[in-house]
Amino acid sequence: MARFHPLRVAAVDRLTDDSVALTFAVPEALREEFRHAAGQHLALRRVPGRTDAADPAGPADGVEVRRTYSICSPAPDPGGPGPGTLKVGVRLVEGGAFSTYAMKEIGVGDELDVMTPAGRFTLDPAPGLYAAVVGGSGITPVLSIVATLLAREPSARFCLLRSDRTAASTMFLEELADLKDRFPERLQLVTALSREEQQAGLPSGRLDRERLTALLPSLLPVGQVAGWFLCGPFGLVQGAEQALRELGVERSRIHEEIFHVDVAPPPTHPAAPAHSTVTARLDGRGGSWPVRDGESVLETVLRNRPDAPYACKGGVCGTCRAFLVSGEVRMDRNFALEPEETDAGYVLACQSHPVTEAVEVDFDR
Ligand code: FES
Repeated sequence: MARFHPLRVAAVDRLTDDSVALTFAVPEALREEFRHAAGQHLALRRVPGRTDAADPAGPADGVEVRRTYSICSPAPDPGGPGPGTLKVGVRLVEGGAFSTYAMKEIGVGDELDVMTPAGRFTLDPAPGLYAAVVGGSGITPVLSIVATLLAREPSARFCLLRSDRTAASTMFLEELADLKDRFPERLQLVTALSREEQQAGLPSGRLDRERLTALLPSLLPVGQVAGWFLCGPFGLVQGAEQALRELGVERSRIHEEIFHVDVAPPPTHPAAPAHSTVTARLDGRGGSWPVRDGESVLETVLRNRPDAPYACKGGVCGTCRAFLVSGEVRMDRNFALEPEETDAGYVLACQSHPVTEAVEVDFDR
């Protein structure tokens, strides 16, 4: 199960005016726990007022804030040791509690609570052609995916179509240019800028469904792509998925990760049946607790087990994924689980509300 460990910040690199890369040093003893697949993310936790991250019971004068950030560094080789460092990309969100803190306050030597890697927006390197459509900071996990794949699979190729507002706001330009230099034949890199005329290449404007439907077949043989990776704001990912479906791509070849969701949450569901109970297994231990009115499964569990895993509480990161052993729940929204996962019985605890009087979930599966 995912758990927090205090890690020291080894480097803070400014990427653009509104983004930084944070590099954490991973002590030898934790390297296996922080072993990650390309495309996974880390949840970071900040407890205002608590100066010693190693002492979770220490004094705190504010509400804890958690955010997930994708790992941009390549995944370690399966046969070798776990990673000695981990790098994440953080983009400033207007008024964002964590990103403002990351941009303005975090410095080298600081210690932060970092959760062990999670997420299923991953690529297991294999031969073939892969492609991604990313917007803005959606490049972060895809940078790791591309670097890991091309370094590990000598015959694999990757076509990356990215969009951003302007060249100055584009994260990881240098890192991608380096990859292009290392793998000129196997990496195809196309950049679309929405607010800037480009000297060559694509005209400016947003990458929407119509544009992608017309553009993608001119860039690559769409039907031969083994895996598509769509990452960024909700609108871009949704538009790209629709374009791919229109072009005949099977849903099972499309992987998605949403970074920002602007759509309004669905209306709240009717109250849970009176006296409903949630039973949960977490880190090998079980318990059953009554559900309070309107609570999500995660909220019920968290009142009793503060170690329950979560990060966004918004149905986006997938950290709270649990297996529904019995009973029925209704999910408010789900931007994290793939259709195969929901079909297999997984739910997002933060979005699930009991429909039956008894609901049992397992966070360990
Ligand atoms: S905590 Fe992020 S999806 Fe539930």
